[in-house]
Amino acid sequence: MSRQAVSAQAETKCLVIPFVDRGLKKAPPLIRLQGICKSFGPLEVLTNVDLQVQAGEITALIGSSGCGKSTLLNILAGLDTQDHGTYTLAERRNPEKAGRQRVAYMFQEDRLLPWRTVQDNVALGLEAARVEKTERHCRVYDMLKLVGLEEFAGAFPYQLSGGMRSRAALARSLVVEPEVLLLDEPFSKLDSQTRSQMHAELLNIHAVTGMTAVFVTHDVEEAVVLADNVAVFAPRPGRITEIVPVELARPRSLLDKSVTEQIRSLRGKLSFNPYPAPSGG
Ligand SMILES: Nc1ncnc2c1ncn2[C@@H]1O[C@H](COP(=O)(O)OP(=O)(O)OP(=O)(O)O)[C@@H](O)[C@H]1O
Ligand SMILES: [Mg+2]
Repeated sequence: MSRQAVSAQAETKCLVIPFVDRGLKKAPPLIRLQGICKSFGPLEVLTNVDLQVQAGEITALIGSSGCGKSTLLNILAGLDTQDHGTYTLAERRNPEKAGRQRVAYMFQEDRLLPWRTVQDNVALGLEAARVEKTERHCRVYDMLKLVGLEEFAGAFPYQLSGGMRSRAALARSLVVEPEVLLLDEPFSKLDSQTRSQMHAELLNIHAVTGMTAVFVTHDVEEAVVLADNVAVFAPRPGRITEIVPVELARPRSLLDKSVTEQIRSLRGKLSFNPYPAPSGG
């Protein structure tokens, strides 16, 4: 399914409510999930999931395999619908602009088209939205610069390293200037050094764009380094057991005691081992 279709579905399958400023200290959340339930046939995958995400926040979803994290992300993207409960995306904050999407999705696999160059892969969403050629080139170039790939604009995916492919996929998600970026284990296949680089780049982009992000991870360190809030999932059926705020200044170094303490504390809250020993080993 094209990114456009993702965006269109995201806009049609969730409620869009008008923003009303009642002079409250805290703005209404950009994303509000209430009592979300989802089953696939007899399999109850999500039950009674409540989650609120403020505009500009980064939220991590963490939990054992099969507890419904990707299913929840698919519901947020409009690729799937809940059986019960409501998903509300507050009214658009950014003005309408050609090729701008409210929600973009970065999948676990980069899904780069092998026959297209980096710049043509990044341009996909803008082409689909019929953004005029000169503007398209400018926006693609700006995005490639932001992720440090401008010198590889003409390269094909097979000519890129794993980290560069991730950057290209990230640029493709960001070029449509989404208010909400969804990421499903986006860096899980990268080595730890490249993953750390991608974390720094993502935070840099977040600081520049002010976007809201929801990402799935199995990596407790990644959750603590990146997120403002960590939603801890428990399995069978999938549910959120706790939302853990991470109130640490950025950048967060793994050498910093307060960061390692938060990682230890979060590990303690997880009722599973995110790195189970290989069976038979
Ligand atoms: N389209 C589908 N049809 C039937 N069952 C599905 C479908 N999508 C997901 N499931 C089932 O729902 C459950 C939750 O899947 P989901 O992919 O959301 O888990 P997850 O938490 O993302 O797991 P992982 O960490 O391994 O990616 C699994 O048991 C899976 O088999
Ligand atoms: Mg998943």
